[in-house]
Amino acid sequence: MTTVVAASPELRLAKRMARLGTETAFEVLVKARALEAKGRDIVHLEIGEPDFDTPGNIIEAASDALHKGFTHYGPSAGMPQLREAIAQYVSTTRAVNVSPEEVVVVPGGKPIIFFSILALIQEGDEVIYPNPGFPIYESMIDFVGGKAVPIQLREEMDFRLDVDELKGLINDRTRLLILNSPQNPTGGVLTKEDLEETARAVGDRDIMVLTDEIYGRLIFEGEHHSIMSLNGMKERCILLDGFSKTYAMTGWRMGYGVMRPDLATHIARLMTNSNSCTASFTQVAGVEALRGPQESVDEMCAEFKKRRDVMVGGLNQIKGFSCLSPKGAFYVFPNIKQTGWPSKKLADALLDEAGVAALSGTAFGDFGEGYLRFSVANSIDNIEKALDRVGAWVQKNL
Ligand SMILES: Cc1ncc(COP(=O)(O)O)c(C=O)c1O
Repeated sequence: MTTVVAASPELRLAKRMARLGTETAFEVLVKARALEAKGRDIVHLEIGEPDFDTPGNIIEAASDALHKGFTHYGPSAGMPQLREAIAQYVSTTRAVNVSPEEVVVVPGGKPIIFFSILALIQEGDEVIYPNPGFPIYESMIDFVGGKAVPIQLREEMDFRLDVDELKGLINDRTRLLILNSPQNPTGGVLTKEDLEETARAVGDRDIMVLTDEIYGRLIFEGEHHSIMSLNGMKERCILLDGFSKTYAMTGWRMGYGVMRPDLATHIARLMTNSNSCTASFTQVAGVEALRGPQESVDEMCAEFKKRRDVMVGGLNQIKGFSCLSPKGAFYVFPNIKQTGWPSKKLADALLDEAGVAALSGTAFGDFGEGYLRFSVANSIDNIEKALDRVGAWVQKNL
């Protein structure tokens, strides 16, 4: 008897999949790891995650919770004790009155971007977003059929947004404005005045603001300001924050959104449809993260600042590179226009030939051309090694 092996059926993807982008950091990480598997030594400055361990008190709280049986489903919007702790934390840090019904706990900060855009944006609706910026914004706007309207962040403005330009972009089709401060990839930080002017530009139009403050505790100069704190803005804001960057918990997958209760119900319904809930034992640890000792956050931030100084100082010594000193987050975004190389080609060459993994500015949108992003979430020794390698490569090739 002959066995008939059926050919695989044609993969018929939904059209929308062609509009879904990606986050290049994960692809570069895979490529760098493949080079390592072949015996190459690579300095990893591509991925945006703290290299520190999660503080011990948080790990203990999670392990204790596992032993106590927090191993079951919980409410889609998050466990009441964590929603309460987040409401208190946000009320204090943003000087607003937040109640637990306004909080939705999700697996990481990213789902708040995904769910908010899915819930609010219809085909043709316009969304203004920072460019260069976190690539998931543009990806999700395109995915749902919205119109992605970039607002360029310029080096001359310390990578803060130009509110006059913003005013010119807002129109009757604008439904959402995305802000991110401290910013990925530039490290730019919006001032209180920037936010006040932005709030005035939005005025009383029917526009929501997604304010991504995932790096809000990683500020090197001045303080963090939130547009949510401004008079009349809370009702139109969706605050994105989480545990990944602040407490070195990227792999735990836990973040949250704070928004008006009627929207929170819909975001929780998207959670029911996608994840059911965020892992219960991690949520118990989340309460400990927010209410336990905070010294580790300050220590981590001080260490990032030292590394930033080493990286910026070193890059500014390299021919063709010039780099501003970012005021927050853990990235530096040097201008490489004087090298004459396109960003992607330079990033590829630095990985392949110098063993330094960085990202092309274009991984963060078209306005990232002419820049590279280095993460300083690595030791000073490794940062110095990377600087030596980039310097030597430049001497040889430029
Ligand atoms: C600006 C910005 N927002 C959101 C996120 C997502 O964070 P999480 O890992 O908690 O999903 C990141 C992660 O890199 C980020 O840079």
